Amino acid sequence: MASSQFQSVGAIKTWHKSGNVLDFDCEHGRVRVAILRDGIMRVRATRARDFGPDFSYAVAKTKWPKVKAAIRSGKVVTIRTKKLLVTITKAPLRIEFARADGTVLNSDERAHGMGWEGKKCRSYRQLVADEMFFGCGEKTGQFNKRGSKTVFWNTDDPNHTYLSEAIYVSIPFLISTRPGAHYGIFWDNTHRTQFNLGQVADEKHYILESDAGEIDYYFFAGDSVREVVRGYARLTGRMWMPPQWALGYQQCRWSYMSAAEIMDVARNFRKRKIPCDVIYCDIDYMDGYRVFTWNPKTFPKPRKMIQDLGRMGFKLVTIIDPGVKNDNKYAVCRDGREKGMFLKKPEGGWFTGNVWPGECVFPDFTNPRVREWWGPWHKKLLDVGVAGIWNDMNEPAVWNHPGGTMPLDIPHDYDGHPTTHERTHNVYGFNMARACHEGLRALRPNQRPFAITRSAYAGIQRYSMVWTGDNQSLWEQLAVSIPECLNLSLSGVPFCGSDVGGFGGNCTGELLARWTQAGAFFPFFRNHTALHTRRQEPWAFGRKVENVCRRYISLRYQLLPYFYNLFHEATANATPIMRPLFWEFPNDPHGYAVDDQFLLGASLLVAPILKPGARQRAVYLPDASDWYDYWTKQKHTGGQYVTAPAPLDTLPLFVRAGSIIPMTKPMEFIGRKSIGEIILDIYPGTKTTGYLYEDDGESFDYERGAYTLTHFAWANGKLKTDKQKTGYKSAVKKYRVRDNSA
Ligand code: GLC
Repeated sequence: MASSQFQSVGAIKTWHKSGNVLDFDCEHGRVRVAILRDGIMRVRATRARDFGPDFSYAVAKTKWPKVKAAIRSGKVVTIRTKKLLVTITKAPLRIEFARADGTVLNSDERAHGMGWEGKKCRSYRQLVADEMFFGCGEKTGQFNKRGSKTVFWNTDDPNHTYLSEAIYVSIPFLISTRPGAHYGIFWDNTHRTQFNLGQVADEKHYILESDAGEIDYYFFAGDSVREVVRGYARLTGRMWMPPQWALGYQQCRWSYMSAAEIMDVARNFRKRKIPCDVIYCDIDYMDGYRVFTWNPKTFPKPRKMIQDLGRMGFKLVTIIDPGVKNDNKYAVCRDGREKGMFLKKPEGGWFTGNVWPGECVFPDFTNPRVREWWGPWHKKLLDVGVAGIWNDMNEPAVWNHPGGTMPLDIPHDYDGHPTTHERTHNVYGFNMARACHEGLRALRPNQRPFAITRSAYAGIQRYSMVWTGDNQSLWEQLAVSIPECLNLSLSGVPFCGSDVGGFGGNCTGELLARWTQAGAFFPFFRNHTALHTRRQEPWAFGRKVENVCRRYISLRYQLLPYFYNLFHEATANATPIMRPLFWEFPNDPHGYAVDDQFLLGASLLVAPILKPGARQRAVYLPDASDWYDYWTKQKHTGGQYVTAPAPLDTLPLFVRAGSIIPMTKPMEFIGRKSIGEIILDIYPGTKTTGYLYEDDGESFDYERGAYTLTHFAWANGKLKTDKQKTGYKSAVKKYRVRDNSA
């Protein structure tokens, strides 16, 4: 319930409209409702005399073509578009969003609506009985967020658990779904924000709240969760195609301590015939943790090392942290100080804080001038052949200050809207990743950048993929990575994944085998572990585990054409790569509760083993389809649980009837090889179709139409192919059909 200090916006005193924007002058503030599309409205509210400048880091689209809307005023004000009926009561002002047919989707809670308490802004919203919540970005904890409280405040917490309310990323985008009613709310406020999603005694309302700033939210209505997610992507943008090699297996450790160690790891992969594309340099490659340098003793010839790796088919990715060692003999620090690129204390003088290098200064990434300065430093790395950048510690983590980050009063530019860390904290990492992406693009304009980031805000998909930070080598963290990445995928970030094997603590052979099996089906597939932990490369636990890892890493590569299709879908339509069951089967009520399985694209159902000792598991096969066991080719009807056998070398995997899965022969790395022979793995159903997307795997030419789409249909034992886009010369010389119905 609202406390007595809460002041609601009150009754409308006057109102007017200009075009598709309605402005309400109320007793205790102003409210503005803007019609952006048939199914997208924006609501702003402020207590100040006027709204602040219209600026957002998350929003990619600010100009919307005019929508046809009927606006009427009588006892209430109504807005009617093709998709929405918005009703605004006058005394007090409350907003209700209904579908065009009158079905109410969501509304302000009648008693309180929107308003303020101290500096805080808040929206009380009606909660209905069968409403479920998803999205909310990167969160551990329950899959359906209903009944939980979640906090958006980017936090470096290597000990986070299932119950942690805030971790590395803040995406305050809420998806609500119940039979026949779907909507989304993107609450665009970068201050510390909290969603109380019904953790209230009466369960009749939920609360969205930020520590300060305006109320500024977007309401997305849709006929499905898909449409809601697409609406959000229209606003915040879509990801780019990554370089194709980024879909390969990646190996990391904090740290491979020398060039010799990196080469040894690389040679082991090739000797053992375990496919791998990327090896990482964690912080110890640097000279005293100074970013954009190399340790002259342990990495004396980085260019040569990277060339040698390249000849073996590996790419190298290096870590970069935001903390710049406060050392005036060091070029990055000196130059940045001379040019005024670092954050200052409110009373003047550089703000300093401790991270890996000891005392550091911190670039103000919310200043465009600073981003432009930071980008070109990456040239030092690209010039010796580094293929991608790993942006870490960018919440930012600052160890010697309360809360593990910088004080809230540190001034920032916020792209020309001077403010303090209180408002910029959640977009600090976003803007570091952005500086990196823009820097890489400026240096290599037609080469797809590969950037990974730990911290982020809504809209990050335009600049970087996200990995879920420091998890632990625990079975429950393997389990939580599924709902965590599913919700992150629904929140506009399809390219995501967790450290395979777990970061903190010591992995075991069985856990590594099971995690590698699962990880092979996540969009991002990287094994990583912390300093002083047990070795975690695929061969670290003996032959048996190594064989399991090889089998699944190899399967990942065989599925490359299918995976690449999914990255194309994510780029073109903002479709998640890993999908909850309800994405494909919204009418199967059971699928909404399933958080220990996921769909990879429309066709593959992945059911990882999440318990030690388990040698079988129950798998739910969604209704409205038949399913083939990938291993035995046995056919099952949907809408039931089956018990799938799962000896250590088997991950339960099912294929939706009617699918054609494009695959390739096993390969050791993706590199730049084109795939000459495609295997079409056919799982007949009533209608059996599939497709193949191809482009050059590395440039942005696909944006200008340089890609090919080949569609397949299978009927009566015959394959029909049909090229629907031919902008890129297909590399495929041969299709080999594998009919699995026999
Ligand atoms: C952070 C990162 C982790 C990395 C470590 C050392 O904890 O999350 O992945 O290995 O720093 O750089």
